[in-house]
Amino acid sequence: MTPASGDPGRTRYRVLLGVSGGIAAYKACEVLRGLAEAGHDVRVLPTESALRFVGEATWAALSGHPVSTSVFDDVHEVPHVALGQEADLVLVVPATADLLARAASGRADDLLTSTLLTTRSPVVFAPAMHTEMWEHAATVANVATLRSRGCVVIEPAVGRLTGADSGKGRLPEPEAIVGQALDTVHAATSTDLAGYHVVVSAGGTREYIDPVRYIGNRSSGRQGYALAQAAVSRGARVTLVAANVGLTDVAGADIVRVESVADLREAMLKAASTADAVVMAAAVSDFRPRSFHDAKIKKTAGTDDAPAIELERTEDILAELSRSRRRPDQVVVGFAAETGDSDGGVLEHGRAKLAAKGCDLLVVNEVGRDRGFESEENEAVILGQDGTSVEVPYGPKSALAHTVWDRVAGRLTGPTSP
Ligand code: CTP
Repeated sequence: MTPASGDPGRTRYRVLLGVSGGIAAYKACEVLRGLAEAGHDVRVLPTESALRFVGEATWAALSGHPVSTSVFDDVHEVPHVALGQEADLVLVVPATADLLARAASGRADDLLTSTLLTTRSPVVFAPAMHTEMWEHAATVANVATLRSRGCVVIEPAVGRLTGADSGKGRLPEPEAIVGQALDTVHAATSTDLAGYHVVVSAGGTREYIDPVRYIGNRSSGRQGYALAQAAVSRGARVTLVAANVGLTDVAGADIVRVESVADLREAMLKAASTADAVVMAAAVSDFRPRSFHDAKIKKTAGTDDAPAIELERTEDILAELSRSRRRPDQVVVGFAAETGDSDGGVLEHGRAKLAAKGCDLLVVNEVGRDRGFESEENEAVILGQDGTSVEVPYGPKSALAHTVWDRVAGRLTGPTSP
């Protein structure tokens, strides 16, 4: 299958977004927006009952395409065959219990289920329903059947459901659905990282002052984990060096846990010695306390005294990785979290940093108190040492991750991993 053409540095997929009739249908608008903003071409196929929740005009306006709902629309174009054949991915959001049942039993009683039978593309279902329906033996069997046929059925989230009740059955967050969709379509259509060993750092370092206090930062590790997940889905052998990350492990990646800059440096240099590409997404402390207090630092009773903590500089791991590549064509990528200031804007700082660090690509994103770190989304500009610049619009961290790998893959010259 050849993905839709577009920017040669970025893969543009044709996604068929099926929408079945549940209250969570409105959240499919956010999924559509996330995919479209990442540059993918989305067509929407709502069921008749989905249209009772979100109307045809909304889908047409958001996707920029006419919306078909019936096998009897445009019959001469044989839509129930054509739509599935043209898509790189079929994604159903939300997938109701009824839709899962009809798909599992091979029904073809509307355009969406007919398309699910005719498509040969990967299929992802994002279910949403009440807990009782999700846990019913019939739904459990239907989900198992669909999974046994190779479909991806995302686990629903736990939380508030329609009405006052809460439990398992909530539609996962739109960003998580987009991430799963992109990982699935990449895994099915592109194994451009197969045979390569890539190393990704994630999270934020901690420099201990005493046994209970440390200098840390707000990095959650989400962007690094999205990079690792995306690389696994594209066939790479992945080493993920995680600094103080509380997220679920990335299946298929070797995870090395670290705390301090010194640990991170050691782990990165070791893993990089066999890597074809290295991505430093971790937020690394530039300073550490000059000395560590073995016991907790106490206040001096009866005074206002506060201890002075003397700091020293840490090693610049990215600059060292760039300098000490095991071979000249190893690709090294850095991230730069910037805020503009009186010395220049975000991009000016980014270009200066790219030159100073000596890496091949620098992913520059603007951070502030309310953006970048803990959020599920990110926007960035990827600057190349060769003068290139690719803007990645605001969207899921998984979409940025795939664009980074698109840029890396274009620079790899052949795996040399042992
Ligand atoms: N980095 C690193 N070692 C450090 C500091 C940063 O490897 N001691 C890496 C980060 O992982 C990131 C890139 O360098 O990939 C840029 O990090 P950033 O914090 O934006 O830059 P700094 O070098 O710390 O520069 P400054 O804080 O002065 O802007």
